[in-house]
Amino acid sequence: MSDSTSAVEIVRTVKALRARVAGWRAEGLTVGLIPTMGALHAGHISLVEAALARYDRAVATLFINPRQFNSAADLAKYPRTEVDDSRKLAAAGAHLLYAPDGDAMYPPGYATNISVSGVSSGLCGADRPGHFDGVATVCTKLFLQSGADGAFFGEKDFQQLQVVRRFVQDLNIPIEIHPCPTVREADGLALSSRNMRLTPRERQIAPALHRALQAAAERLSAGADAGSVLAAAAAAIRDAGFDRVDYLELRDGGSLAPLERAETGARIFAAAWLDEVRLIDNIPVGAA
Ligand code: PAF
Repeated sequence: MSDSTSAVEIVRTVKALRARVAGWRAEGLTVGLIPTMGALHAGHISLVEAALARYDRAVATLFINPRQFNSAADLAKYPRTEVDDSRKLAAAGAHLLYAPDGDAMYPPGYATNISVSGVSSGLCGADRPGHFDGVATVCTKLFLQSGADGAFFGEKDFQQLQVVRRFVQDLNIPIEIHPCPTVREADGLALSSRNMRLTPRERQIAPALHRALQAAAERLSAGADAGSVLAAAAAAIRDAGFDRVDYLELRDGGSLAPLERAETGARIFAAAWLDEVRLIDNIPVGAA
């Protein structure tokens, strides 16, 4: 562990990243990867801790991936806090930060896209066309660039996690994917880099999303029909002050296929807007 003012070592090129990983490999050490877009919060730090518990070395990545944003405005607004992030990573005990610039990741002439069907459809895939292609493409590159043994993803972005699991299996990429539980504020709000864009009033409203999911999960566990339960939950989210609900759905936690009633492994997924901030959340129904 370091103090809160020292920063973790940063590399910016694939060559430098591979050299560090090769050095560790020569010592017989294993490597865990924590892909991020920065603006690190306790959720990301929990991924670093999980990586350190499982592997000898923890490498975080920081790359604000333009290919997964749906609007230039959203990309421009994304917080850029590298100095702060590198201090947080040092304090958490991470060993390295890989923070390539845009040209290192997508040099002139770059022309390859990874597109995952099935689990990418619906939910965030419906509202954010191309988003999961962007995620799959950059994660494929990060996995191949680092050669890490394992990578850590939060369950808050559950659809992203399923997309990553799918292409890793389909492309035979030799990396183990580790899901980690969503980290929440005391009032239930799932930690997200987007939370820092909420006004004080919106921050007060925001936990209503998780409350509505919990109430719906209880009714669904008791055998209620998804249609009526989810309609009531969407109304509760709007009544609490959310401006719009993009989706509120019951799906299988593996295939992400829509469900009409709770089954083993079912989850409820939601996305809703507070003015310009889109929040997502999901929870298991009954035993996940
Ligand atoms: O979850 C994120 O922060 C991003 O989607 C990821 C996995 C780092 C890919 O850019």
